[in-house]
Amino acid sequence: MAVTFTLNGKAVNFDGDPETPILWVLRDHLDVTSPKFGCGAGLCGACTVHLDGAAIRSCSTPVSVASGKKVTTLEGLSPKVGKALADAWTEFDVPQCGYCQTGQMMSAADLLAKNKKPNSDDIKNALAGNICRCGTYSRIEKAVKRAAD
Ligand code: FES
Repeated sequence: MAVTFTLNGKAVNFDGDPETPILWVLRDHLDVTSPKFGCGAGLCGACTVHLDGAAIRSCSTPVSVASGKKVTTLEGLSPKVGKALADAWTEFDVPQCGYCQTGQMMSAADLLAKNKKPNSDDIKNALAGNICRCGTYSRIEKAVKRAAD
């Protein structure tokens, strides 16, 4: 039986194995490639998307869990939040290789939805599961604070 969910505001179906991780449904079947494959084990955060507004690891969440729910990727953030994050990431020149950054931004968006004025500790705690091998953490922290302004 097909799994039906809302992706970035549009109803979509997936006819394959309901145990397929959301990451691969998005990337291989729905052509949404902003969520990235890093570890595949829920440990690095590169694959972060929102499920009903909360950040999840799409590599380790079966698409069956999304049935009847809303999946949001970077492309589907509200224009206000998406622009605030994009502008702040640009202002502080955050990305180095860039691979992890969509996941970082999705975790940041989740944080900002819950906490309008996060301090440094709030940001570090909220993004602790998002690994950046280039070590852009200090720029990410500044950008999240700017996006909250
Ligand atoms: Fe999903 Fe690393 S690829 S947490």
